[in-house]
Amino acid sequence: MAGQMKDEIEIRPTKPEDLGDIEALYGAAFPDEDLFPLVNELLAGSDRLLSLAAVQNKRLVGHVIFTYCSVEPCGRVVALLGPLCAAPANQKQGVGSKLVRRGFEQLDAIHAMVLGDPAYYGRFGFKADDLVETPCPIPSEWKEAWQSVRLGGDMDEKLAGTLVVPKAWNDPALWSS
Ligand SMILES: CC(C)(COP(=O)(O)OP(=O)(O)OC[C@H]1O[C@@H](n2cnc3c(N)ncnc32)[C@H](O)[C@@H]1OP(=O)(O)O)[C@@H](O)C(=O)NCCC(=O)NCCS
Repeated sequence: MAGQMKDEIEIRPTKPEDLGDIEALYGAAFPDEDLFPLVNELLAGSDRLLSLAAVQNKRLVGHVIFTYCSVEPCGRVVALLGPLCAAPANQKQGVGSKLVRRGFEQLDAIHAMVLGDPAYYGRFGFKADDLVETPCPIPSEWKEAWQSVRLGGDMDEKLAGTLVVPKAWNDPALWSS
């Protein structure tokens, strides 16, 4: 029983002292892409966000950021999901799912948006969105990867406009490679 408890994955807000572990995690999870500068800028800045860590046996095994953004001109607040990662040795064990679902519970927004693989994000209810425009152009073949999910509110209400993101996210390279 004690062994089982030890292996449990705890989801908690990140702390400033997690930064070194977060940098190592991103290096391992994204060998071909350096997303740590984005993460570092978001965590160091004053933009509103939700940053969650997955911890197992005191080790940081996963991380996600939801950044609060707005859809203009209506001004509706939405949460942009990303980056999300699980340590290579801990993938396909529910770490990513736990981070996303806990985020959904804690977010103060009725929509979340993501640019990611529909085969993964579909399980959380994300569907391709062609009413909200991305802040920077995305390749046409990624159209289905730009997705949204409603977390609450009036199901009939349609959200439309352009996503306006904080400076850290306003880099065309993040949306096209
Ligand atoms: C993508 C990622 C976050 C998923 O987290 P995870 O903890 O491994 O995933 P979960 O255990 O919650 O879910 C596992 C399921 O997702 C599927 N899955 C995992 N990565 C996937 C991907 N890139 N595309 C499609 N499906 C994927 C698995 O096949 C598995 O499917 P099943 O439930 O049908 O068996 C993780 O694999 C990762 O960090 N990958 C490298 C970085 C990355 O690509 N991040 C996402 C973009 S920001």
